Amino acid sequence: MKILVVGSGGREHSLCWTLAASPLCEKLYCAPGNAGIAQEAECVPIAVDDIPALVDFAKRENIELVVVGPEAPLVAGLVDRLDEAGIRAFGPTAAAAALEGSKGFTKDLCAKYGIPTADYQRFTEAAAAKAFVRERSLPIVIKADGLAAGKGVVIATSLEEADRAIEGALEEQAFGAAGAELVIEDFMEGEEVSFFALVDGTSAVPLASAQDYKRVFDDDQGPNTGGMGAYSPAPLMTDALAARVMAEIIEPTVAAMEAESRPFKGVLYAGLMITPEGDPKLVEYNVRFGDPECQVLLMRLMSDLVTALVATCDGVLGSFDLRWYPEAALCIVMATEGYPGSYAKGSVIGGLEAAESDADVTVFHAGTKQGADGACLANGGRVLGVTALGESIGAARDRAYAAVDRIDWPEGFCRRDIGARVVE
Ligand code: GLY
Repeated sequence: MKILVVGSGGREHSLCWTLAASPLCEKLYCAPGNAGIAQEAECVPIAVDDIPALVDFAKRENIELVVVGPEAPLVAGLVDRLDEAGIRAFGPTAAAAALEGSKGFTKDLCAKYGIPTADYQRFTEAAAAKAFVRERSLPIVIKADGLAAGKGVVIATSLEEADRAIEGALEEQAFGAAGAELVIEDFMEGEEVSFFALVDGTSAVPLASAQDYKRVFDDDQGPNTGGMGAYSPAPLMTDALAARVMAEIIEPTVAAMEAESRPFKGVLYAGLMITPEGDPKLVEYNVRFGDPECQVLLMRLMSDLVTALVATCDGVLGSFDLRWYPEAALCIVMATEGYPGSYAKGSVIGGLEAAESDADVTVFHAGTKQGADGACLANGGRVLGVTALGESIGAARDRAYAAVDRIDWPEGFCRRDIGARVVE
């Protein structure tokens, strides 16, 4: 089977690494890819938002499966255009990707179908938004409706902070069109955890559990990022809780999307809050694999990924049984100094072979490119995902940090507390 992966991050490297190992994969392309992905796939220089060029390439090369990594091309309708061209694509249509593309759509869906989430209202006028904030208690959560590259959420702890966030989005267009509408919702107390399921339009199959770290510095300090590390399994997600999440959140959402004539196919990523009473509530949906959660999930996947993705696209997940290795996996993201603010590109990264000298360690590339002399150069904010397997999260953690310490990259940094809480 000829397969095209769309994207250039650590998530897409782990997808390519896993797909390339499948006996069903004859030829693997990635658009646009990165220096690490180039070791698994032929990289083609097409940007993820160049939908006509991606469709033309898939037609020209007789691609039989396109796997779309990031959310932006999904929300922009890449899967719709591939469907029209008769090319099998893993990921939701634009109508179904509204679960991530519009926070307001998702909240309305939850309200209509009784899916547990925080109380909310939608606003396009600052005065009405400010008045609503004064009726609720603090802290309060203010979210841009559309895609804002992970920056569109403010947890306001004072009325002044809430007013600034409302004015920034609705009056100063801080998030452009993505912030022209706001969702304001009550803050939920509890423990956050991610939950992933493959969905084929009608059936859903849960993936293994995973936990990520969103803040940039140790002890959850500093600004939010795309994710600074992850581990799987997440001890918080017991089998009993996973069954509740499927019955109370995932399956009702899949049925609701079918009823709304927006059947969802692809991977549904639920950000959940487990309340102090132990009840799962939806914080938000994403319509793609998490990054770096994908890296730890795929390190643990025993079943063939090509078969699983094709079953999802072809609507036959109902009879599918995913198997996982019992080992734990843990990923440490190494980023360029300055991330998630501004950072320099082009610093040289050494020691990658030494880092991977442990057979249970894989270094996924998130933002790298090859220099003229063959050196590996940093080319982004999040640059590497050093990922290890171990018989426990503690063992995986020790291996991953030992590998990090073999990497020679003075301009890079990482959190030092990934998995620490679980081990303690
Ligand atoms: N790790 C968070 C995300 O992928 O959105």
